[in-house]
Amino acid sequence: MFDINNLLRENIKTLKPYSSARDEYQGEASVFLDANENAFGSPLDQSYNRYPDPLQYDVKMRLSEIKGVPARNIFLGNGSDEAIDILFRSFCNPGVDNVILVPPTYGMYEVSANINDIAIKRVPLTEEYQLNLEGIAEAIDAKTKLIFICSPNNPTGNSMNRDDVETLLANFNGLVVVDEAYINFSRQKTFIQELTEYANLVVLQTLSKAWGLAGLRVGMAFASEEIIEVMNRVKPPYNVNEASQQLALKALQNIDQVNNWIRETLIQRDKLVLELKNFDFVVDIYPSDANFILVKTTDARGIYNFLVGKGIIVRDRSKVELCEGCLRITVGTPDENITLLQTLQDYK
Ligand SMILES: Cc1ncc(COP(=O)(O)O)c(C=O)c1O
Repeated sequence: MFDINNLLRENIKTLKPYSSARDEYQGEASVFLDANENAFGSPLDQSYNRYPDPLQYDVKMRLSEIKGVPARNIFLGNGSDEAIDILFRSFCNPGVDNVILVPPTYGMYEVSANINDIAIKRVPLTEEYQLNLEGIAEAIDAKTKLIFICSPNNPTGNSMNRDDVETLLANFNGLVVVDEAYINFSRQKTFIQELTEYANLVVLQTLSKAWGLAGLRVGMAFASEEIIEVMNRVKPPYNVNEASQQLALKALQNIDQVNNWIRETLIQRDKLVLELKNFDFVVDIYPSDANFILVKTTDARGIYNFLVGKGIIVRDRSKVELCEGCLRITVGTPDENITLLQTLQDYK
């Protein structure tokens, strides 16, 4: 039976969070002399002299409308990378606990685990890039706190079988973190709708990919109220800055624009796959539910270096487990994709 108290670090259970000036007084007033800000303004056209809303209420209300989730089930971070780190800091005892990672997958889970001194148990994906449920079940022990599942997965591009993720959710007493950074490009439904079903589910999403706001650093975690409450206590008080909050709120009005880009990206992805298949050096292209494709080639390093020489940068993933010979190519604009394909014509 899942019980958050069995997971939380002792020091976090009793943690009294930093109480900011804005936490202590939230009402209307005409003179604010409580936060040691510069009362005159900012040396800019727009003023940023006041600290931002620590709980990002306006952005969450808008996200709540878009995602169909109450604001109290939403955490906002300085990118979803911050949410990943906060999960480690809230639930994993350094030098004691462990987490399960399923490589090949997004690299920050491992980096965050290492920074927080949390042991990693690796259960590689199957040859089809799906979860090895038996292996995961064997790897779980009393100190296993988190399992990270990236779906659609970076760098392979595919979604995980939904039934497999649900099996983990139903049987694991720690947190199952489903990273949906690329969900807007996927044929699969989000797991957000399952939050009422599974108390141990955390869904990560981000404004960095389909929303085109990687520079703003706004990531989201969706989870039960009690998990979100812990994450809010552990986070730095002003983790999403005022400019990012204002711009994210503005951007979140432009869903039509984003949906058009998603449609165009999928068309471009399919075209890119068809064209790339014609090259002799392409051995395989894996099915993608994301805005990138993983391409198995005869000479990943050679092609990578050739493209760098022409000013085109893709990601060489050939040293990654189960990705031998692979390049990861992000879908670009139509012009960028044509440039890539034309340049590759000259690769010998
Ligand atoms: C699977 C996955 N999760 C999370 C992130 C990080 O997103 P953010 O920009 O919100 O920190 C990335 C970025 O590449 C990613 O690929």
